[in-house]
Amino acid sequence: MEPTGFAHWLVVVVETFAALFLLLLALLVVVVMVVWFVDRNQTTNSVLRNYPVVGHFRYWFLHLGEFFRQYLYSSDREELPFNRAQRTWVYRAAKNVDNTNAFGSTRNLRGEGVPFFVNAPFPALGEKHVEARPVTLGPYAREPYQHAAFFNISAMSFGALSAPAVRALSHGAAKAGIWMDTGEGGLAPYHLEGGCDIIFEIGTAKYGVRTPDGKLDDDKLLAICAHKQVKMVSIKLGQGAKPGMGGLLPAAKVTPEIAAIRGIPVGQDSQSPNRHLDIGNVHELMDAIQHIRDLTGKPVGFKAVMGGVDWIAELCDEVRKRGIESAPDFIIVDGSEGGTGAAPQTLMEGVGLPLHESLPALVDMLIVKGLRERIKVICSGKCITAYDVAWALSMGADFVNSARGFMLALGCIQSLQCNRNTCPTGITTQNPKLQRGLVVTDKSERVANYATNLMHEVGIIAHSCGVEEPRQLNRTHCRVVGDDGLSVPLVKLHPYPVAPHASAHG
Ligand SMILES: Cc1cc2nc3c(=O)[nH]c(=O)nc-3n(C[C@H](O)[C@H](O)[C@H](O)COP(=O)(O)O)c2cc1C
Repeated sequence: MEPTGFAHWLVVVVETFAALFLLLLALLVVVVMVVWFVDRNQTTNSVLRNYPVVGHFRYWFLHLGEFFRQYLYSSDREELPFNRAQRTWVYRAAKNVDNTNAFGSTRNLRGEGVPFFVNAPFPALGEKHVEARPVTLGPYAREPYQHAAFFNISAMSFGALSAPAVRALSHGAAKAGIWMDTGEGGLAPYHLEGGCDIIFEIGTAKYGVRTPDGKLDDDKLLAICAHKQVKMVSIKLGQGAKPGMGGLLPAAKVTPEIAAIRGIPVGQDSQSPNRHLDIGNVHELMDAIQHIRDLTGKPVGFKAVMGGVDWIAELCDEVRKRGIESAPDFIIVDGSEGGTGAAPQTLMEGVGLPLHESLPALVDMLIVKGLRERIKVICSGKCITAYDVAWALSMGADFVNSARGFMLALGCIQSLQCNRNTCPTGITTQNPKLQRGLVVTDKSERVANYATNLMHEVGIIAHSCGVEEPRQLNRTHCRVVGDDGLSVPLVKLHPYPVAPHASAHG
């Protein structure tokens, strides 16, 4: 008997799906056979030549591993550049939620290189605790800069960062009373929006203050420094992640807005030179510092990654010849472990001194040359938790900058895609669909919380060590674990050199 009504339609649907299924199966078999044939006969990939078709799973799993490792497989203290414990600490500080742990630390406290602080038998009483005192930068500039906060936002350009990220940093910095460095991409309206103090960075391509042929345009620099928020100017000689190499801004990222701010043609690759065209030695660096300070009236210094400090000695000798006013007002030392929007792996991993070596080397050279007070030291390089920052202050830094700490505060999940325009949290992408995820009002709170909570906890370390404020920490307050599992005081690892004469101010 023929099926009728509902039963008839059911048969038709089942038969259609069965036919479709068989068709798809046949297609799949054909595709697999074609891929098998291509893999087997290609000559560039040995795995696919020996294991056609299934060999592709290796690449798929490698790709998926990038995403799943941090959730499923890595332990709390395993990943790099920042492990889960460090990231979680920043997230919690940024969200202003309870940052206490239970039972005990998962950090190996006996591991080589681990720093810890020595508590005083009689810690400073609560009423003795004071806020970090202001430090004066550029005492000989027409507009010296006084700044108290010892933890600030490191250089990251608009271009590497999205507009919402820059806006959230600007508002957050203003709330926390910290500065924000523009990075080498020029000054965007987004930097000014929140009202924070700004360090204007001049990169090797002089973006934002360049003539068409890449020289410094004094008028453009004057216009930027006319903003009251711009407090200092930093000449970027180099950056830890790519010492000796300029950056490439790919054509796709050179939007009309970014091109206008940087002063370059729209939609063309923009390559920064490896160094400033007009700064090829210490004398020319000093000339540039003097010129910019005279022109703008602002304190001027430079950012560099150290390969050694002989050239700093030469610079100090030149300061002695020219006069104490001629000195750079600050030096930002960036460790080779520093981050970047994009850099070759070889330079990231293999060139430049890490901060643990370059910071004491720089501080000691300035002490030896009697310029330690005159030239303020700012440092950066994976200082994202309270004890990293306390270590840097103990070693002799006046200020600590962080880039990636603040990216984590903005919601970065360390997906390592800053160079691909695909950042899933909207921080380092120019794709408006992805930028939508970053809500400025919420993230600016987190930026402010992170800075405030971190500085508060450095204060806790300082008070436990028996000093009144964090900048009083010194090399006697910190010990570092050696290869035998026993710790050595920083002051023994890096003894203070003897200053040449009493005049520490030069
Ligand atoms: C996304 C990104 C962009 C950066 N852009 C600049 C820049 O324009 N100029 C610069 O001097 N350094 C730049 N840096 C380096 C940082 O300012 C900083 O020196 C380095 O990352 C070390 O700090 P951190 O370990 O806290 O990230 C950038 C870093 C990142 C992660």
